[in-house]
Amino acid sequence: MSDIATLTFEGKSYELPVVTGTEHERAVDISRLRQDSGLITLDDGYGNTGSCQSSITFIDGEKGILRYRGYPIEELAEYSTFPEVAYLLIFGDLPSPDELAEFRAMLTEHQFIHESMRHHFEGFPPDAPPMAILSAMINTAGCFEHELVEPSNDAQFKDQAARLLAKVRTIAAASYRMSMGLPVNYPRADLSYTANLVHLMFSMPNSYGEPSPELVRALDQIFILHADHEQNCSTSTVRMVASSQANLYASVAAGVCALWGPLHGGANMAVIEMLEHIRASGEPLEKFVQKVKDDPRHTRLMGFGHRVYKNFDPRAKIIKAACHQVLSKLGLKDPLLDIAVQLEETALRDPYFIERKLYPNVDFYSGIIMRAARIPMPMFPVMFAIGRMPGWIANWREVNMNAKSRIYRPRQIYVGPTARPYVKLADRVQGR
Ligand code: CMC
Repeated sequence: MSDIATLTFEGKSYELPVVTGTEHERAVDISRLRQDSGLITLDDGYGNTGSCQSSITFIDGEKGILRYRGYPIEELAEYSTFPEVAYLLIFGDLPSPDELAEFRAMLTEHQFIHESMRHHFEGFPPDAPPMAILSAMINTAGCFEHELVEPSNDAQFKDQAARLLAKVRTIAAASYRMSMGLPVNYPRADLSYTANLVHLMFSMPNSYGEPSPELVRALDQIFILHADHEQNCSTSTVRMVASSQANLYASVAAGVCALWGPLHGGANMAVIEMLEHIRASGEPLEKFVQKVKDDPRHTRLMGFGHRVYKNFDPRAKIIKAACHQVLSKLGLKDPLLDIAVQLEETALRDPYFIERKLYPNVDFYSGIIMRAARIPMPMFPVMFAIGRMPGWIANWREVNMNAKSRIYRPRQIYVGPTARPYVKLADRVQGR
């Protein structure tokens, strides 16, 4: 196999090294291209651009493969817990029983937020979007840390990673409680990471019900499935911010903002809105699908399609099965699940979706599990953000530990006006 690609332009040839990854993916290294030829590459939306070399997550979109640090997502979802997967992503290996116990103890130790942060929550209007609160409060939490994270100091980094993971969950639950006008709960030391989230969100001062193990397991699985996904929009944002040597809190707060949009982490909410609309309007599924095909820019089939997966999204398969399982274990019936199943079947029979290789993604069924857990819809993207936190932390560290890391700074092809003479205010035409 050749490890040189040749580009010929205006009679000159340029040799470009080909870089091969451990899974045999190949990339043309163009880092010297402009210097040698004056050319840059143009790739709107970065569909063909490798922005970094990373050893965290591997995806083969054609084969539907997703692995964290080499471990298949299917096995992690079946056998692991979220703290274990977070440890794997952040530190590179599955923890030993002692390492996991130590990490869990750290998550418990750091799960409180500073009491005075309550005043910050009070400043938000009750209907403030939870993702805005989450991003702002992550930066606020960063202000209460006396030491900024030192990526090369293993012990300090572990402590800081645990702090961030633990506090994010407490912040998320507090934002929900404040928005409902309910007293904010304190985390419990006897509960697991995810059971604690359920407690923080739903316990009342007069009724500390034990969270249902089935729901806790289903939510834990959702976190595992969202924990990393290589260079998606929010992770690339975290890496971009990290590349300027911004601190960990600022970098992941930016990641939350990038995740917020309906094409990314906001899709889980948009799916439920779409299913609710279909149920309320009684619109036949074929008609809805036709509407999508007629104008996909305005009406998308939310929870369908993916930049990388072109056969199936392995996370969607796991979530769909978990969704059926948890609803049946709890004896719940959600009419939206039936609509989702039928909508999926209708779309997958349709040439529009077949030709474009559009399949259900991770967001298509996750909202139904969250509904079963009574999580309100505006909190769905927040749940995604809690899950994605280990991936963001791992990527932040990878940028900072790379001795060759440079500030991320893409170029562009300018298509605006060419140089023109300045017109003084008095000489400009009125009402133009
Ligand atoms: N419904 C209808 N048409 C679609 C959809 C959809 N959900 N997704 C893609 N298409 C069409 C699109 O119109 C285009 O058609 P044409 O070639 O005729 O112009 C073609 O498929 C390729 O789409 P694209 O927009 O170029 O694909 P992309 O890789 O830029 O976008 C995506 C990927 C996930 C943003 C997109 O599929 C989408 O908007 N899906 C719905 C939102 C969604 O579910 N997002 C969650 C993604 S998974 C979780 C995460 O990582 O955030």
